[in-house]
Amino acid sequence: MADFDTIIIGAGPGGYVAAIRAAQLGARVACVEGRETLGGTCLNVGCIPSKAMLHATHMLHETHENFEKMGLIGAAPKVDWTKMQAYKDDVVSGNTKGIEFLFKKNKVTWIKGWATIPAPGQVKVGDEVHSAKNIVIATGSEASSLNGVEIDEETVVTSTGALTLKSVPKSMVVIGAGVIGLEMGSVYARLGAQVTVVEYLDVITPGMDAEVAKTFQRILTKQGLKFVLGAAVQSVTKGKKGATVTYKLKKDDSEAKIDADIVLVATGRKPYTQGLGLEALGVEMGPRGTIKTDAHWQTNIPGLYAIGDAIAGPMLAHKAEDEGMAVAEVLSGKHGHVNYGVIPGVIYTTPEVANVGQTEEQLKAEGRAYKVGKFPFMGNARAKAVFQAEGFVKLIADATTDRILGCHIIGPAAGDLIHEVCVAMEFGASAQDLALTCHAHPTYSEAVREAALACGDGAIHA
Ligand code: NAI
Repeated sequence: MADFDTIIIGAGPGGYVAAIRAAQLGARVACVEGRETLGGTCLNVGCIPSKAMLHATHMLHETHENFEKMGLIGAAPKVDWTKMQAYKDDVVSGNTKGIEFLFKKNKVTWIKGWATIPAPGQVKVGDEVHSAKNIVIATGSEASSLNGVEIDEETVVTSTGALTLKSVPKSMVVIGAGVIGLEMGSVYARLGAQVTVVEYLDVITPGMDAEVAKTFQRILTKQGLKFVLGAAVQSVTKGKKGATVTYKLKKDDSEAKIDADIVLVATGRKPYTQGLGLEALGVEMGPRGTIKTDAHWQTNIPGLYAIGDAIAGPMLAHKAEDEGMAVAEVLSGKHGHVNYGVIPGVIYTTPEVANVGQTEEQLKAEGRAYKVGKFPFMGNARAKAVFQAEGFVKLIADATTDRILGCHIIGPAAGDLIHEVCVAMEFGASAQDLALTCHAHPTYSEAVREAALACGDGAIHA
């Protein structure tokens, strides 16, 4: 008999969720993790610590921007960097310990160390070889730097180093106007750094609804971030203090340089699959270093599965979690399923940005007839009361059937609001279904309903 029914490699959101669900479904499960703590990139050096930093700096920003307007007078707080870092570390350790607790509760064995797969059905950690009926690779991703740019995680950093800077820099260049660049850029801009974002394309957050992206850039510019778009970074050179970023503007080929204390390279991530022994096993790979799987997350090797950032699809913790649950169900003979058409994306800046489903640009390209219901947060009493009336909800529905096809929000709590649309889409709802649903007043969610009303006879408050 094999030592385990399932061994999962990696304890990030994909791996730990797969482990817990597999154990809940009665399997004997082990999860191999080489880090000192569980939770993977997301909990240790990604989603969670960055959210703590975004929260702390948002609070600081509120004291500067809005306290006086509400009659709250007094000196604004100063930043104690060491304490802010300790707060962030506490948030992380609370969460990683929580997963350790869940592993114990569900009787998941944590095998500490880095795994290799010497043969199908075998996982080697240190000198020990463990056998399993099924193996799930959930090893996630790592930052992909630019050619020739050396990351030292002190001056030239990825998101990992950006979370543990020794002090608040006076200036920062962010390479890449994607999710990481804008979230971390916002953190340091609120702490007083002059942040310049250099982006290769002519838009920020490529792939996002164009109207949202434009509004987002305008709001971030107002918050002090500078943008250099259509600029290809040529090199990053470290000096005695700080570094120099050289870029070429695509429109006229002119070259320019910016000096900064810190350079954050946020140009995307790539699957982290090195050292597992996949080549020797003959595992078929897909584009950009991803592991190729079938519709049930199985690779070309029977009994070897892969999920999360290591395979195709958006590199998002919640996509990995869904695949983790689904693969555990498949392995226990159930019908695990992920609806890839309804995976929300959220950027946790202020305001938040969230989306699900298709954009207008995609629908146009497909030649599909659609209608748009848009509602500005300026018409939402709750948002106005808390100085967060910038932005809008844009709901897109099929022109004929009224079925919801997508939603794009920039505004307060967008990352939470999007989920009522996700549920609606899962149920194949129409815009009218949302419009006919009573929404409590005064809530931000009324803006979603108003956008749904705008798909029909019209919004009330616009
Ligand atoms: P990204 O793919 O979101 O953005 C990278 C940006 O860098 C793109 O706009 C791209 O055009 C630009 N770029 C690439 N090469 C460049 C060059 N040579 N010069 C200038 N610009 C260049 O990647 P990011 O922000 O690094 O995030 C990595 C992954 O992590 C993404 O898949 C993202 O979805 C995920 N993530 C998600 C978060 C969330 O859901 N809130 C938070 C953080 C990361």
